Formats: sequence, structure tokens, C-alpha cells
Amino acid sequence: MILAGPGSEGLARRLAQQTKGALGRAETKTFPDGEKYVRIVDDVDGPVVACQSLWPPDRLVDLLLLLDAARRAGGDPVIAVVPYLAYARQDRVFQPGEALSAQVVARAVDAYCDQFVTVDPHKADVLDYFECPTTAVSASGPVADALRERDVDCVLAPDEGALDRARDVAQRCGADVDHLEKSRVDSQTVRMRPKQLDVNGRRVAIVDDIISTGGTMATALNMLRDQGAKATYAVGVHGLFIGGAEDRLKKAGVDEILSTDTVPNATSRISVVEPVADALTATATKAQ
Ligand code: R5P
Repeated sequence: MILAGPGSEGLARRLAQQTKGALGRAETKTFPDGEKYVRIVDDVDGPVVACQSLWPPDRLVDLLLLLDAARRAGGDPVIAVVPYLAYARQDRVFQPGEALSAQVVARAVDAYCDQFVTVDPHKADVLDYFECPTTAVSASGPVADALRERDVDCVLAPDEGALDRARDVAQRCGADVDHLEKSRVDSQTVRMRPKQLDVNGRRVAIVDDIISTGGTMATALNMLRDQGAKATYAVGVHGLFIGGAEDRLKKAGVDEILSTDTVPNATSRISVVEPVADALTATATKAQ
């Protein structure tokens, strides 16, 4: 049985279709003071998947309540599917005195589930903070399919740290790959250009894990246009689009903005349902 938390209903429904599982009904509400309430309506017996993306990040409470309700209703094992895992940026203590947010979240979720599945976490090592078995599903396959359909011939990572994801996508869709590199022209000007590739006349996708304010993408898009790119695509696995991010990208001349359904929005035309369903099937087979 698949249960949906608030905001994750579409993905849960598609997961149920893909896995031929039943879509269970969970009644959820928010009290006037902001407290959340969850009740599983259907009878539960056996494996239960609770699907809840952590966007906005306070959906963490919804997730914990859904997992607890699933267990109390008879779910065994209880599998948390968290397509977008918030708080993964703070995966270390960078400065003395900081909270280790990724570990706090992992421990809280871990206390209520038997398995944890997420999609392209910001840093893979956040999964080490869980004690239960974890799976990081890659969105690279569906992203590559979408770029192949658009005849993209060049995939760029916005920085060197994001190169592995970009390379994986590029290999799958048969495109060239590179990462953008910032260089300082003078005290006022920073330039961003591919380290090696010439983008002139090419169809270029910038692939990142998160589009948040869109600042990173917009800077890159402006530069790529100046360097003669024929078409530009801004692709984020998790599209958060904060504070007019979409407009910022459009102003930067993007031809299309694409994201996946880990965070549903107007640009999430790529679905991660297939690889997530495959991961669930693989864990179920292993458990038998
Ligand atoms: C950063 O480490 C992430 O991978 C993204 O590059 C970042 O979250 C993008 O943020 P923004 O859209 O605000 O530039």
C-alpha cells in the first residue's frame, strides 16, 4: 500500500500505478494553530510506503506523523519514500556551534521507518546518518530521456562538484559534458564559461540537483547566450523556485526550464516514478 502525504499525492498515485500497489487513504488536516493531524483510513496489513517530499521543509512533521500512523495501523515494513530530502546541505558541522541538520533529520525519520528511499540527495553521505537500509535513486535516466527528446548535445554542470551527475546524464543521452568555471575578469566582474567546450551553435542543458532562487542558473544562462549557445535548458532535479526564480531564468533567455516531480510544479515534466518504483521492487525482492 502506498500512502501520500500533503503535496505528494500525484507522485504517490503514479507510484501506486507503476508498482500495481493500492493507494491507501490518509486523512490529513492542519489545525488553526498550525498543528498537523494524520489518520490512515484504510486497513493496513504488510508493507506500507509513505510518500512525502520535504518541500517545504516543515513537511518533516507530516512525514513523521504519516510514518507513525502507518506503523500503528499495521504497516510492516514501513518504507519512507522522500523524493526531495530537505536539510541535506548541512551534512557536516562547517563552523563550531552549528547544528548537524542532516543528521538530526535522518535520526528523526529513521526512528519511524524500516527503509528509506530518496532521489538525488544533495550529498550522498547524508544517508550514512540513517541506521535503516537506504537507497538513493538517481533521476539521471528520466532527465537524459527528456534531453534526448530535445536534441540536447551538450550537458553542463554549474560547477565541478556537480560534474558526476552531469556526466551520468550526458553519457545516457549521448551528449558532450563539461562544467562551468568561474573566473574573475576584474574586481567587479566574474565570468562563467565551460572549462573546455565551445558552446557556440549548440543545444546546451545545465543540469543541477536543486534550482532554488535560480541565481546559479541565471548567471550561467546569460553567459551561455553571450557565448553563442543555440538553445538553452535549465534542468534541476528538485525545482524549488523561490522568490521569482522562474522569471529570473526566463529573463536570462532560457528556452525551457525542466524539473522532476520530486517537487511538483509547472516545470516538473520529468517523472522519477519509474526509477523509484524499480528501487521499491528491488528492496521488496531482497526482503523475500
Ligand atoms: C548548491 O550546492 C546546489 O547544488 C544548487 O546549485 C543550488 O542550490 C542552487 O541554488 P540557486 O538556485 O539559489 O542558485
